[in-house]
Amino acid sequence: MEDENIQRTEAVLDLGCGTGQTAAYLAERFHCQLTAIDKHPIMVEKAKERLKNNNPPIQLIEGDAENLRFADDSFDLVIAESVIAFTHISKTLDELARVIKNTGRMIIIEMTAEQNPTEALQREIFSLYGIREVLTEEEWRAKLQQAGFTKIETIKTPSALIPSELHDVNQSKNIHSKFFDLWEKHDQFVLQNNHFIGFRVFKCHLS
Ligand SMILES: C[S@@+](CC[C@H](N)C(=O)[O-])C[C@H]1O[C@@H](n2cnc3c(N)ncnc32)[C@H](O)[C@@H]1O
Repeated sequence: MEDENIQRTEAVLDLGCGTGQTAAYLAERFHCQLTAIDKHPIMVEKAKERLKNNNPPIQLIEGDAENLRFADDSFDLVIAESVIAFTHISKTLDELARVIKNTGRMIIIEMTAEQNPTEALQREIFSLYGIREVLTEEEWRAKLQQAGFTKIETIKTPSALIPSELHDVNQSKNIHSKFFDLWEKHDQFVLQNNHFIGFRVFKCHLS
C-alpha cells in the first residue's frame, strides 16, 4: 500500500471488508475517501463498531460483490483481500471492472491453486469453503483479462499460506461449537495442503 501513492482525493473501495481492519488502516494512513462493503450482516455490524469514530469517516455498506449498487466509474482503487474466490468470480470481476474508473487500479489477494488439485481435494475445498472453483495463477489472469483488466502484475509474496496471529478480535458472545470445529478443520487444511493451495496478489489496471 505504501507503494501505491494513494491520494486524499482518491475514492477507495475495500470489497468484502470483513470487520473493517484494512479499511480503518487505509483511511487513517492515507486520509483517502474510503468505502467498505460486505455481504454478511455480522461482519458489517462488527465493522460498524470498529469504524464508528473513524477519522476520516468511512462509508460502510451491506451489499453483494456480484451486484454492486455503485455507479459506473466510481473508484480510483479497489482492494479485495480474500473475497473474490468466495463469490461467482466472473460476475464479481465484471462488476469491479464497471465501478473502477478507466484510470483506476485494483489489488486483490486471492486463494490460488499451486497445482491442479485432485478431485478428492477439490471436493474437500468445496465443502469446507463453499466455493465453486479454485483457480491457478494462469486461470486468474485469464478471468481478469476477460473482465477487461490489463497490465496484470503478480506482486511477489511468499507463495504458501502463513498462519497469522490476530490481536484485536471482537468475538461474538454466543458462538456455536460447530464454528470452532470448522475453524479447526480450516487450520488443519491449511497446514496439510499448503503445497496445493496458496495465494497470489494481483495488481491490475483498466487501461
Ligand atoms: C476471508 S474474509 C476476508 C475479510 C477481509 N477482507 C479481511 O481480509 O479480513 C471474506 C469476506 O468476504 C465477504 N464476502 C463473501 N462473499 C461476498 C459477496 N458476494 N459480497 C460481499 N462480500 C462477500 C465475507 O462476508 C467475508 O467478510
